[in-house]
Amino acid sequence: MPRPLHTLILALVLCVPTVAPAAQAPRDDASVAPLAKPPGAAIASGHALATQAGIDMIRAGGNAFDAAVAVSATLSVVEPISSGIGGGGFFLLHDAKSGRDIFVDARETAPAAATPAAFLDANGELNRDRATNGPWSAGIPGLPAALVHLTEKYGRLPLNTTLAPAIRLAREGFEIYPRLEKGYASRRQVMERYRGTRAVFLADGTPPTAGEILKQPELARTLELIAEKGFDGFYRGETAKKLLAAVKEEGGRWRADELAGYVVKEREPLRFRYRGWDVTTAPPPSSGGVALAQMLQILEGWDLARLDDAHRHHVVVEAMRRAYRDRTIYLGDPDFVKVPVRRLASADYAAGLRATIHPDKATPSALLSGQPAPLEDDETTHFSILDAEGNRVSATQTVNLLYGSGMVAPGTGVLLNNEMDDFALRPGTPNAFGVMGFAANAPEAGKRMLSSMTPSFIESKDRLAAIGAPGGSRIITEVLVGILGYDAGLNAQQVAALSRFHHQWLPDVISAETGAIDPATVAALQAMGHTVNAAEANWGNLQTVSWDKRTGALEGGTDPRNPVGSAEVLNASEQPRR
Ligand code: DON
Repeated sequence: MPRPLHTLILALVLCVPTVAPAAQAPRDDASVAPLAKPPGAAIASGHALATQAGIDMIRAGGNAFDAAVAVSATLSVVEPISSGIGGGGFFLLHDAKSGRDIFVDARETAPAAATPAAFLDANGELNRDRATNGPWSAGIPGLPAALVHLTEKYGRLPLNTTLAPAIRLAREGFEIYPRLEKGYASRRQVMERYRGTRAVFLADGTPPTAGEILKQPELARTLELIAEKGFDGFYRGETAKKLLAAVKEEGGRWRADELAGYVVKEREPLRFRYRGWDVTTAPPPSSGGVALAQMLQILEGWDLARLDDAHRHHVVVEAMRRAYRDRTIYLGDPDFVKVPVRRLASADYAAGLRATIHPDKATPSALLSGQPAPLEDDETTHFSILDAEGNRVSATQTVNLLYGSGMVAPGTGVLLNNEMDDFALRPGTPNAFGVMGFAANAPEAGKRMLSSMTPSFIESKDRLAAIGAPGGSRIITEVLVGILGYDAGLNAQQVAALSRFHHQWLPDVISAETGAIDPATVAALQAMGHTVNAAEANWGNLQTVSWDKRTGALEGGTDPRNPVGSAEVLNASEQPRR
């Protein structure tokens, strides 16, 4: 029996904590003309200290981009499990003054020594230890260059102001929370191989424990050098020397010119339309935007609100399956391989894929064998910002797996990423997220590894939102489910709380959070030929902000799966006049 989509989606909501307050009382008459600017600022991030650092920048007269620098740097200090200045990220910006959207690509790059052969063992198999632990797993970091770039090109406040909260929290410390303790326990054996890591995390002789204070004085010093010297504070001079020495000491190979030559790339975001929304999202080297364009444009062929639960899940899963198949084959760094973005993201191509979907039968993916994807945990982080001038930021940053490579470069406090595992290090062999790739995503000197990070904006004539999430290969489907939620009329907090399900072509299985798909729907999907894991642990950490241009309601939504996340709204009357 058809049911309205919003009731279906509401049925999937896990739990909906109090919605962050609107910046002003909603206007009664929703038929009035849309407002030109939001009535304040809103920030949602994975840690309350980072959200607060961003709010402080807005109060100090900064814009969304200054707030983004403060939030990003603070997350780098208080969420070493997820992201950091030893890693990279993508920053999707909307600059209200010029009306432009800009995609700042601060993805890590492959060092020249990291050839495919360097990651194979004597039997020609993937050396998983090398791919995910220690110096070989690390790409040249991009995040510090992004902080400098955002400040110089888009910000109003100096780096010594925007980095001040991060520097203070690194020096004075912050309270360790259970996710950090748990993540450390699971990566402990690897992390304690490295003397730089022991100096930070075993400073008092015992592993980090919730409730204790974690101080990172060397990281504070490195952030100060970035505040003083900008790019050179990290990529040249004292810090660069220490990073190079640390990689060498542990048997890896980075060159000084690979650090000094790192560049942030500004790219044209990917754009498409979905049911009256303009979607602006991540282009390659992210696979996220292309996959999102494929999935939503495939789904545009159905009125999802009129399908029953089983058929709605079926068509969404079939869209996911097809998009992830193309990800595997075609996607890579566009500066190195030709990625057919225009074709893959076109409405015509989506229509062709849609035609291959049987209304009641799963299409088997099992032409190639796959391996089960492990559950993702608390790696990677996302934040979303809107300001009263109309600027927006949607940013996802990462060191890849829990605590990245596990290796802190001695004397710097910098925990190196293990992003090299996002390359197809051995063609056809799945990486830590169970996704694989071929030539398009093979490592090459200076190339950026394919990502799933999907920072996005969606905008209609009435509403707009910034949205994104961590979750490895599941990021793209988290953002998809979130956009479907906005389209069904949910608010920001409800979108962040939505239950999730996922399919990535291979392995050929629907993963669903416990309770996300009810037993009758699971049975109906199985009857169509789907394999369903319907009781997986929760995943993701979606952070979103939204603004209703007609009612004026400005909201933040923070994922209830992460108890330390926060969303704040600051009324324009609390900000300095400009
Ligand atoms: O860029 C990517 O797609 C991955 N390195 C992101 C890793 C991630 O989200 C881990 N989270 N659970």
